[in-house]
Amino acid sequence: MKLPKSFYSWTTAIGAAISAISIILFVFLLILSFLFGESSGYTGLVTFIILPALIVLGLFMIPIGIFRKSRKYKKAKIVKEVKFPVVDFNDPKQRKIFFVFGGGTVIFLMLIGLGSYEGFHYTETTEFCGTLCHEVMKPEYTAYQHSPHAKVSCVECHIGGGASWTVKSKLSGLYQVYSVAFDKFPTPIPTPIHNLRPARETCEECHWPEKFYSPHMLVEKHYLPDEENTEWDIHLKMKIGPDNSAFGLNEGIHWHINKDVQVEYAATGSHRENIPWVRYTNKETGEVVVYKDEDYSLTAQQFDSLEIRTMDCLDCHTRPSHEYLSPVNFVNDAITSRQVPKELPDIKMLAMEIFIVDFPTTDSAMKYIEATVNEYYEIMYEEIYLEDRDLINSAILGLQEQYKLHIFPEMKVKWDAYPNQIGHLEFNGCFRCHNDKQQDGNGRFISMDCNLCHTILGQGVPDTLQMTTINSSLEFVHPNDPKQAWKDKLCVECHKNLYE
Ligand code: HEC
Ligand code: HEC
Ligand code: HEC
Ligand code: HEC
Ligand code: HEC
Ligand code: HEC
Repeated sequence: MKLPKSFYSWTTAIGAAISAISIILFVFLLILSFLFGESSGYTGLVTFIILPALIVLGLFMIPIGIFRKSRKYKKAKIVKEVKFPVVDFNDPKQRKIFFVFGGGTVIFLMLIGLGSYEGFHYTETTEFCGTLCHEVMKPEYTAYQHSPHAKVSCVECHIGGGASWTVKSKLSGLYQVYSVAFDKFPTPIPTPIHNLRPARETCEECHWPEKFYSPHMLVEKHYLPDEENTEWDIHLKMKIGPDNSAFGLNEGIHWHINKDVQVEYAATGSHRENIPWVRYTNKETGEVVVYKDEDYSLTAQQFDSLEIRTMDCLDCHTRPSHEYLSPVNFVNDAITSRQVPKELPDIKMLAMEIFIVDFPTTDSAMKYIEATVNEYYEIMYEEIYLEDRDLINSAILGLQEQYKLHIFPEMKVKWDAYPNQIGHLEFNGCFRCHNDKQQDGNGRFISMDCNLCHTILGQGVPDTLQMTTINSSLEFVHPNDPKQAWKDKLCVECHKNLYE
């Protein structure tokens, strides 16, 4: 079969070769992915993004080559005049060309269709989002894999259904690809994410507020920084919903998202951490209450420049899927799960001293943990150091593992990079509003009563745990605080940097 002269150009030939090879590879990888199911992030990238791009690139080169060649011929006056070709299916040569090109085009279009469908699908997978630029997404992906949402795909929270958010996210995705490729991304990645789909649309796909929960038990295990790593437990009954689910959202913590209730606030600070103004509207009765915290002295002008935000899930659940625990919490968890042995004297205190240090890289942290723990027991507890190496080694391993799950120096990500506003210990959280200072001027205020959100059912050392019944509450006892210094300040004032 002969092709017109103008087809014989280098550009066309190279283009055709690129397309042909990419098509063969594409089909091959496609069959592999059907046969063996999900593969690693990079095969997906090659199959569904790079190869189709190469195919299209090659295809573009073919007409460009033809065009340039025919212009050259034209200049050389080889082609005298341009006429439309005469199509005649009785000519066997033309028939052949028609079937080859026609058939080829159909198969090609089908492949492109399949490829772009799979390619689109692929950009929605957790492996694409979580592992492709794995240095950048490592903190989020690691925390996600250990979160209650480990089986929920990234896009279910970050995009949700529907075309318009998909388009928005792909557009901002393009910018993200650019910033990763040219090393222009900020560390840590800033939040709050401003183009995140409203939480009530995404979270409520799975968590239906009308069926929100009755109270649940929260058992927190702490280990004090003494020689025995004394365990200190706190059992809380969290009033997530009303005492009985039949009451609906009329009381309890999730009252804020009752559909008849609207809580709005104005905040300052990069993470909405300071709240000078709150407005509560009851949509059913029309009641409106405005609370102000007089400790903030904002001029009218400053106030007008603040964004007024309607409270939703993310104002409390700031870290539903990417929770980076503080050393206090991850070391407590590691001791509870026996990853770090409780029998090893002073280990809690030592761990707290280690994690005060800000390490430049994960590697340097690993080395420092090993050296410091070894050195400490060699000097302070020689007997253990000589005879109970296993205990020390497992503590080292446990601390290293925990560090890698929660602190990512390369991305400057750790617990204090992203506030977790669900409680009130390490961040002000609920106490941003519930601090007895937000007043409406008529004696109404947003309460800080210790029994508003939870009751304490048990507290203290397990053997001598102070306990009460399900419908009453103990008065909070702070560990190691005989003078009750905790009463003079907000928890966050001491707990933000507890062991520093
Ligand atoms: C349960 C819902 C949910 C899932 C699942 C989820 N995220 Fe997130 N993600 C969030 C929320 C909420 C934020 C915080 C938004 C804010 O503060 O404005 C966030 C923040 C982020 C951030 C900004 C930096 C940070 O740490 O806050 C990145 C990056 C991110 N997510 C990536 C991912 C990736 C990658 C996956 C999948 C491996 C994923 N997310 C899965 C809800 C989710
Ligand atoms: C695609 C479904 C889905 C979406 C979307 C989703 N979740 Fe979840 N969520 C789950 C599942 C499944 C669990 C685990 C349930 C369990 O452990 O009982 C869960 C658990 C939780 C928990 C309990 C965590 C715990 O420690 O027990 C919270 C809080 C939560 N989700 C908040 C959110 C928030 C906030 C959003 C929106 C940013 C969200 N979820 C979006 C499915 C989802
Ligand atoms: C943006 C401000 C704001 C934040 C942040 C906030 N709340 Fe509230 N909360 C309010 C307002 C306003 C009320 C109603 C006060 C009143 O009745 O005058 C309220 C009422 C409550 C109530 C009582 C509901 C009832 O009537 O039974 C509970 C419980 C509660 N909040 C728990 C929490 C918890 C837990 C957090 C943190 C995770 C939190 N709140 C964070 C503004 C806030
Ligand atoms: C006022 C703050 C606040 C708001 C707003 C809020 N939550 Fe919660 N939510 C809490 C607290 C506090 C808990 C209990 C956490 C704990 O016990 O550790 C909780 C618990 C949960 C749980 C776990 C329930 C269980 O039984 O374990 C889910 C799921 C949840 N919230 C989803 C949501 C969703 C979805 C939204 C938005 C529609 C939302 N929350 C809005 C504060 C809030
Ligand atoms: C506005 C709601 C609210 C008020 C008021 C409140 N708390 Fe809490 N508290 C919470 C929430 C939410 C958590 C759970 C955080 C979590 O899920 O880890 C919590 C957790 C705790 C814990 C367990 C901390 C841990 O890590 O073991 C203690 C102890 C506690 N609160 C004591 C108090 C005391 C004392 C007061 C009164 C000064 C108080 N709370 C007032 C909402 C509140
Ligand atoms: C005056 C400072 C101060 C205030 C205020 C304070 N704490 Fe503490 N808290 C400490 C110190 C210091 C420790 C370390 C305990 C030790 O040395 O034995 C601690 C330890 C704790 C622990 C055990 C931590 C661990 O290592 O696992 C809990 C739980 C706790 N505090 C709860 C609270 C709560 C809840 C509040 C607020 C209602 C609060 N604290 C307010 C200083 C304070």
